[in-house]
Amino acid sequence: MSAPLDDDPTPNINVQLGSPYIAKSLKNLDDSADEPLPTQEVTALCRCGHSSNKPYCDGTHLQIGFVGEKEADRVPDKVDEYAGAGITIVDNRGVCSHSGICTDNLPGVFRLGVEPWIDPAGASVEAIITLVERCPSGALSYSIDGVRHQDHGGDPTVKVTKNGPYYASGGVELTDDQGSEPQAKDHYALCRCGNSKNKPFCNGAHWDGFEDSGTWEEPKK
Ligand code: SF4
Ligand code: FES
Repeated sequence: MSAPLDDDPTPNINVQLGSPYIAKSLKNLDDSADEPLPTQEVTALCRCGHSSNKPYCDGTHLQIGFVGEKEADRVPDKVDEYAGAGITIVDNRGVCSHSGICTDNLPGVFRLGVEPWIDPAGASVEAIITLVERCPSGALSYSIDGVRHQDHGGDPTVKVTKNGPYYASGGVELTDDQGSEPQAKDHYALCRCGNSKNKPFCNGAHWDGFEDSGTWEEPKK
């Protein structure tokens, strides 16, 4: 009996030192306005931050000696829990990409400059769930009745954010020769400025002036 044909292989992003992100079978690559960008069966995406054809790799990483290791003084990978009535908010500061979505939209719960920075009594359970499901990095998740909720679902997609990271969602598999695993397998934020201390994940370093002109040409096959 022949094996079933796999028409729709799981998209994968492979991370290796000194290389761009190698995306295989990735059909959905969107720009910051959610317009589709072309992909090929194998698409090399810039992660050194210096390609002249972002988001695609143009080989500049070789000229600048980009390596892409994590740095020892990054924010530690540590999971904290904030228990409230009916919901526990789970947070890993080590993988936050500092999008500001939480502090901008639910400041009564996610409190800038206050300790502890999360107060689960600051909004309804429904509002907290809606917000946590917008966290692009996987830093935030929640538990109800002891069941952890981390996945967002949706179609496997990589979004190229404006002057910021790649947001992978919908279950784009990540493999890394250094062993990094996303906090939430189904969504994570990948550095594309080249300056994160927590590569391959974004840590917000792009706020220090990373710019992408937004002009590109489809790479030759
Ligand atoms: S990545 Fe998540 S935890 Fe970090 S600022 Fe954005 S919404 Fe908040
Ligand atoms: S893209 Fe956010 S730290 Fe590099």
